[in-house]
Amino acid sequence: MIIEEVSNAVHTPTAELSKLSAQLILNPIVDDQYVLVVGGLGFIGSHTVWELLKERRNVIIVDNLSNSYKDVFDRLQTLVSRYYKGAPSSPHLEFYEADYRETPVMKSILGRYDCPNTLKSTITSVIHFSAHKAVEESIRQPLKYYSNNVAGLIDFCTLLDQFSIKTLVFSSSATVYGSFAEAGGCLSEELVTHNTTQLTDVSSTVHITLSGCTGLTSPYSRTKWMSEAILADIAASDPDWTVYALRFFNPIGCDPSGLLMENPREIPRNLMPRVIRTMQGQIDELSVFGDDWDTPDGTAVRDFVHVSDLARGHVAAIVAETGTERKSGFHVVNLGTGTGSSVMEVVETMRRISGKVIRTKVVERREGDVGVCIADPSKAAQIIGWTPLRSLEDSCRDICRYLDTHA
Ligand code: UD1
Repeated sequence: MIIEEVSNAVHTPTAELSKLSAQLILNPIVDDQYVLVVGGLGFIGSHTVWELLKERRNVIIVDNLSNSYKDVFDRLQTLVSRYYKGAPSSPHLEFYEADYRETPVMKSILGRYDCPNTLKSTITSVIHFSAHKAVEESIRQPLKYYSNNVAGLIDFCTLLDQFSIKTLVFSSSATVYGSFAEAGGCLSEELVTHNTTQLTDVSSTVHITLSGCTGLTSPYSRTKWMSEAILADIAASDPDWTVYALRFFNPIGCDPSGLLMENPREIPRNLMPRVIRTMQGQIDELSVFGDDWDTPDGTAVRDFVHVSDLARGHVAAIVAETGTERKSGFHVVNLGTGTGSSVMEVVETMRRISGKVIRTKVVERREGDVGVCIADPSKAAQIIGWTPLRSLEDSCRDICRYLDTHA
């Protein structure tokens, strides 16, 4: 187990300093409260940690580095010291190299944050990113996925329960919509639920949704659906639990600082990392999986959401969880923009912004794909006050800035 901690930076610029000081008075750093982020050095994890730190939350990262690198932690430290330069204080950032499934190790980490006077933990909430996410790999190695994503979640929640840590933000995915995505409309949370849901629409028609889902296309999808169902059951059994399952659509982009980026150890199969590799000449031509979908240009349409917006969605859920309006129970929230872009629109936007050649060739549809997958984002605005701020252009611009600085 490796433990590292950032010492708080205290330095200058005056305008930034007065802005920060004002923010600190309004929202002071609470020394003895932490957010635990498991899987906090990965693509979405690291961006979420950074958004939490900007919001003056103390953060503990646990990551086994299976799909990330230790230098991401160094970059987060750099970002903290730059951002809080000159401020009277800055949030704590701590890192444990550990696997969230190693119960004895996790037990000793959690034990360090117990508050002896109150018998409560100083960890007020947890964000969970420690799941495997490669769809094709999950088909070849289903047990790896069920073991880490599902059995791991059960053991982890059992441990959290023992430490009375009962607020959790869970990374779910639009993949849980299964065959509902084939219909092509915007996907709203009520389509896939974990108990019977009754809704009355504007014309007073009552709709009843039974729990469950059909048409899940991979073991990966099933682990996400099963995890949600388990968490819904835990929250239903004990009113002290609050769980937000955030259903991600397609995260792209990177922090505008040029210090954080998607940098997995595994070979990426997703669209944007492959667009980047083609742009950099590592791949000759980008394979476009089908141009015969029922979409304006025939290529598949997705809801691409800037990763910093997605990260802000986690902060919004944490604020909702720990604020005065705390809503206990299980909540499912889409994190998407509500707008779709096609594969070719992504390629063309990247060509325009980078000025680079990106060669493409149309190949057969990829097994398990759907033509259109777009979020209905209205519930996120209502229950956690989240709306995305950045566009596809912003994502491409931020990626190009990162690539330029690291050329
Ligand atoms: C998939 C998962 C999603 C998961 C995400 C991240 C499903 C249905 N979706 O999303 O749950 O969170 O991966 O792992 O399981 N494409 C190309 N060429 C490429 C790569 C992709 O044309 O080289 C196309 C795909 O066919 C698809 C679109 O780009 O139409 C987006 O693909 P991708 O980035 O892999 O994400 P999803 O499949 O939407």
